[in-house]
Amino acid sequence: MPSFVMPTSRQGDGHPSPAAISAVGLRKSYGDKTVLDGIDLRIPAGSVFALLGPNGAGKTTVVKILSTLITADGGQAQVAGHDLATSPDGVRAAIGVTGQFSAVDGLITGEENMLLMADLHHLPRREGRRVAAELLERFDLVGAAKKPASTYSGGMKRRLDIAMTLVGSPRVIFLDEPTTGLDPRSRHNMWQIIRELVTGGVTVFLTTQYLEEADELADRIAVLNDGKIAAEGTAGELKRLIPGGHVRLRFSDPAAYQGAAVALREVSRDDEALALQIPSDGSQRELRSLLDWLDAAGIEADELSVHTPDLDDVFFALTSTSQTNQPNQPKEAVR
Ligand SMILES: Nc1ncnc2c1ncn2[C@@H]1O[C@H](COP(=O)(O)OP(=O)(O)OP(=O)(O)O)[C@@H](O)[C@H]1O
Ligand SMILES: [Mg+2]
Repeated sequence: MPSFVMPTSRQGDGHPSPAAISAVGLRKSYGDKTVLDGIDLRIPAGSVFALLGPNGAGKTTVVKILSTLITADGGQAQVAGHDLATSPDGVRAAIGVTGQFSAVDGLITGEENMLLMADLHHLPRREGRRVAAELLERFDLVGAAKKPASTYSGGMKRRLDIAMTLVGSPRVIFLDEPTTGLDPRSRHNMWQIIRELVTGGVTVFLTTQYLEEADELADRIAVLNDGKIAAEGTAGELKRLIPGGHVRLRFSDPAAYQGAAVALREVSRDDEALALQIPSDGSQRELRSLLDWLDAAGIEADELSVHTPDLDDVFFALTSTSQTNQPNQPKEAVR
């Protein structure tokens, strides 16, 4: 599987923005099973990074290494300016982690869970109470604060989990599948919370099984497969990596349609819809030359739309070696 790595994002002055997380050559094996076979990452501060990959690809392993819960067998990484190997305490003080499996203690109340976290962060009692109250309010848990967490719904537990993660005001947050099992409304609420965190300058590293979520939230996305980053880039960049993108020209005048179909010979035709499809990667450069060519040929469509494959297509194409799934057909939706 070829590896496609896009250039890291740069600020306008040409200097790379400071990295909140950077890793080079991370490796991890369990017994003779290699889980991570050299992972490089560079995540700018104040951005959202999404790590995708099939079950068992090693997403949680990456999160655990970067959050100092386990150590890598090889490679180096810095998180929030601290080196994982030489300053794990510095890393721990700067980060928050919401694991794939809840850290909420069901036997005590939501408020008690929050106060426990405040204790773990050595906040003075009064400060701990203030932070807990503020976060319970922000996560819409005031009404449930005095009830045992075991009585909470899945969505409430997830909110409490993330509220607990925020007690120490972390600059970098790891969210391992933050919305798994949430209904669409709770998922959208969680997205809103994540966006607010980023607006406040926090860097978010999330893993997800929902490609729509990565598309919606992430500045950059990496697909983990067979122990390596199979591709990394913005959602748009990833979609352009795989075939299936095209430009669709739709006509209302049958004569204009026929004329264009003859002039464009090689394209696929949809005679019923009076539409022509021209393969394209959707890049500005290709679109410009296509438009110039259409102008020169005197072809004027009534509607032009650019169709790119969606992230599902990318995911299936890049992870098909380890999965039984076959690549999807390109979707027809306008994006
Ligand atoms: N403590 C461990 N001992 C042995 N193998 C492990 C251990 N932890 C993880 N693994 C293995 O490492 C691989 C990666 O696991 P990991 O939990 O990182 O995957 P994941 O991408 O998070 O999967 P999922 O999408 O199911 O959460 C799996 O094959 C898993 O069985
Ligand atoms: Mg996992």
